[in-house]
Amino acid sequence: MKKLKVLIACEYSGTVRDAFAALGHDAMSCDLLPSEKPGKHYQGDVFNIIGDGWDLMIAHPPCTHLAVSGSRWFHLKEKEQADDLEFVRRLLYAPIPHIALENPVSIISSRIRKPNQIIQPWQFGHGETKATCLWLKGLPLLRPTNIVDGREQRIWKMPPGPNRWKERSRTFQGIADAMATQWSEYLAYSLPLR
Ligand SMILES: C[S@@+](CC[C@H](N)C(=O)[O-])C[C@H]1O[C@@H](n2cnc3c(N)ncnc32)[C@H](O)[C@@H]1O
Repeated sequence: MKKLKVLIACEYSGTVRDAFAALGHDAMSCDLLPSEKPGKHYQGDVFNIIGDGWDLMIAHPPCTHLAVSGSRWFHLKEKEQADDLEFVRRLLYAPIPHIALENPVSIISSRIRKPNQIIQPWQFGHGETKATCLWLKGLPLLRPTNIVDGREQRIWKMPPGPNRWKERSRTFQGIADAMATQWSEYLAYSLPLR
């Protein structure tokens, strides 16, 4: 399979990065935070490295001010929302041929464009519900890999604490594996040889 140069933007967990690296790709995560696990990681602003010749970018931008689940506070957040929408636009329109941007159900749909797809963890082996939207450029829809029962909303039951947001935002392993397997297979047949 062709070796891809993959940027996982806004990822501290290393989950998607390691799924691509396990398939032999040159994958790097980037976040303002350090990586939780050892691996290739740029700690800093994603826009410092976004022009470095990536084949594919998977981006997980912050959703705090954009998620519809927080809509009762929207009237207090206009400036933060405008800034976060601009951040999302810059990622979506980055000069990279293949892009996936992931976020919960959010105002990106009404203010920028509708997502190409909405997936659930229970379609990828995790017995949980969490509607996850994907905005795609130059990539096919993700196919469910392992549909399971037990559809509870674990993340809402988590106790409050400083790390709650991290536990809630970490990418599910089954989704990371599906992205790596399906999208690298797709790109193996659509990219010219380096
Ligand atoms: C919703 S979390 C995504 C977590 C991800 N799903 C994971 O498994 O690591 C959003 C992340 O974006 C990061 N972030 C915010 N602004 C950034 C920037 N300018 N450049 C890089 N990362 C940024 C935050 O530090 C935060 O970790």
